[in-house]
Amino acid sequence: MHNEEIIEVNKNYWNEHADLWFGTTALPEYGVRFPTEDDLHLFGDVSGKSMLEICCGSGHSLLYNANKGATDLWGIDLSRKQLDNAAKLLAENGCTAKLICAKMEEVLDVPKAYFDYVYSIYGIGWTTDLQGTFDKIASYLKKDGIFIFSWHHTLNYCIGWSCEERKDIFDEGKLVMTKSYFDESYFSMPVDDSEIILCNRKISTYINALAKAGFVIEQLAEESDQASLNAEGDLDPKTRKAKMLPISFCIKARKL
Ligand SMILES: C[S@@+](CC[C@H](N)C(=O)[O-])C[C@H]1O[C@@H](n2cnc3c(N)ncnc32)[C@H](O)[C@@H]1O
Repeated sequence: MHNEEIIEVNKNYWNEHADLWFGTTALPEYGVRFPTEDDLHLFGDVSGKSMLEICCGSGHSLLYNANKGATDLWGIDLSRKQLDNAAKLLAENGCTAKLICAKMEEVLDVPKAYFDYVYSIYGIGWTTDLQGTFDKIASYLKKDGIFIFSWHHTLNYCIGWSCEERKDIFDEGKLVMTKSYFDESYFSMPVDDSEIILCNRKISTYINALAKAGFVIEQLAEESDQASLNAEGDLDPKTRKAKMLPISFCIKARKL
């Protein structure tokens, strides 16, 4: 399948299901079963700063940064419906942001060498061109500008609970490796009576692409949240999994 077809499938999903995700995976949350910005403090003092959010979705992270004092806010997203929701949310809260309907893979109509921060919360993994996207993000940032993004941890898609149907191969109720860590091919996933298409990139793929785009990594966080790590007793499968492996990860990088 060509990249354009993948993007089209994902765009349809987000246009049809935007309301289901309103306000989810947005700052201060970085992702599922993961420490928040209140724990990690990756952004620091953002007052008066310029920021571009890639895959800004329903606009809740833009609103979060506006409330922290960021003054020049821009957001891009593939989905017109997500951007309509974001515009409404920001207007209702007396905030303004420049919202652009575009794919992150294209050269965006935003200024170059301009932003103090570019960030993306559970957005970057949707790109069909990781290196091209990182190269473009580097071009939008000032020297020493910060790029922060979070996504599913690679291991989360590789390891799952064995179940009734697989008990001929694995003991039921055990975490098993169901997919190769090295497999970065695209796969289709049924979600909400629809479909999305993603791939599962190795952590080294992200790190090497960042280095090639001219970033130095300041922090890689891949822990689970304290609530999951400290949970005890008769736990649900998601909590038990989060106690054993990272479900999400987050990288803070600086443009050289
Ligand atoms: C998990 S949501 C991100 C949610 C966001 N953090 C929020 O606060 O709502 C992923 C977003 O990525 C967008 N997206 C998916 N593929 C994209 C692409 N190729 N270019 C730009 N946006 C894309 C979707 O439309 C969706 O809004």
